[in-house]
Amino acid sequence: MTRSKAEIAKMRRAGRVVAEMHEKLRDAVRPGVTTGDLNAVAVEILEKRRARSNFLGYHGYPAVICTSPNDVIVHGIPGDRRLVEGDIISLDCGAVVEGYHGDAAFTAPVGSVSADALRLMEVTESSLWAGIAVMSPGRRLHEIGRAVQEVAEKAGFSVVREYVGHAIGTQMHEDPQVPNYWPGTPGPVLKVGHVFAVEPMVNLGSPRTRLLRDGWTVVTADGKLSAHFEHTIAVGDGGPEVLTLA
Ligand code: MF3
Ligand code: CO
Repeated sequence: MTRSKAEIAKMRRAGRVVAEMHEKLRDAVRPGVTTGDLNAVAVEILEKRRARSNFLGYHGYPAVICTSPNDVIVHGIPGDRRLVEGDIISLDCGAVVEGYHGDAAFTAPVGSVSADALRLMEVTESSLWAGIAVMSPGRRLHEIGRAVQEVAEKAGFSVVREYVGHAIGTQMHEDPQVPNYWPGTPGPVLKVGHVFAVEPMVNLGSPRTRLLRDGWTVVTADGKLSAHFEHTIAVGDGGPEVLTLA
């Protein structure tokens, strides 16, 4: 569905809260902090901005962010895990303001990391921006995934298939889904007022995934690194507007 100017304005406010969570988390990531400490940083910002968490309680999810180190692709649960130099950590954050949702993720290095890890993060982020770049009215939804996939695969990496982006608005996950690969059909025409969370998950090795016994944590089947970048983006007259930026 499409959203009115007034609705987009609310989503912009939710997006700004998510951007602030990112900013504060970026500063907090260092060797010695636990993923639970990072969740506490995020809780503080939600409280300060009087925003609701869309993650907490979602199908029973127990935290306000997802913390996904190294081979964890997405949905890692914050806890006692202490970050060490050389790790990478994906942090997925969301907020609700006046009933409208924002959702965004990034992957950060913990101290100095391997050249492979750095390149994986750079390529995943640029694949997200390549996807965003096609989000103008009249384009087709699946052009996003085609652009993401091309950047990731040209670099020698692989794109996760089992988890995808999504429309977002008064719920975090709305239809349609936004694959990060070309699914074989062009998909719906993009219109002004469409809002999507685009979120490539890119693996260093095989694209295959495995779900841990906790029912949440998604890891790479081969144990190699994975990165995740996400923004919430509105289709505007003039092209994409990224709502989850400061
Ligand atoms: N933010 C995730 C997404 O990008 C969903 C988080 S699952 C939750 O779709 F349970 F943590 F909320
Ligand atoms: Co999302």
